[in-house]
Amino acid sequence: MARLLLLNGPNLNLLGTREPNLYGADTLDAVVERCTRLARELGHELVARQSNAEHELVDTVQAARAQGIAMMILNPGAFTHTSVALRDAIAGVSLPFIEVHISNVHAREAFRRHSYFSDIAIGQIVGLGTLGYELALRAAAVRLAAG
Ligand code: DQA
Repeated sequence: MARLLLLNGPNLNLLGTREPNLYGADTLDAVVERCTRLARELGHELVARQSNAEHELVDTVQAARAQGIAMMILNPGAFTHTSVALRDAIAGVSLPFIEVHISNVHAREAFRRHSYFSDIAIGQIVGLGTLGYELALRAAAVRLAAG
């Protein structure tokens, strides 16, 4: 059994009402509930956090190792394209993670095509809606089982 962190960045608390054409109709609560259930089915425990504040995301990442987190599923929201600080925090505690984007960031504005995270992530799931979180969780479980 491993403990996994599902970490969502700014504005993802608005899921369900935020630009549903891009992000769908699921609320963040519904996503967290589904992922918590799936993690349990896969024999793991899920801890879910969301913040709109960069320093809170950095603090959560810094604390993750001490809290026994083995792997993270991360949607950094807009910080994907801006946050060297969050990238440095993840690198600083050597936390393996899978990057998730609900929308297809490559089919949107040019500034969304660059991620400060993708080159240090295990992998990326992009553009598959909120299903991407569950797919990432399954991939994390496979990776954890492989040691
Ligand atoms: C997002 C894509 C980002 O560009 C955007 O700023 C978000 C959500 C996604 O899940 O598609 O907030 O990370």
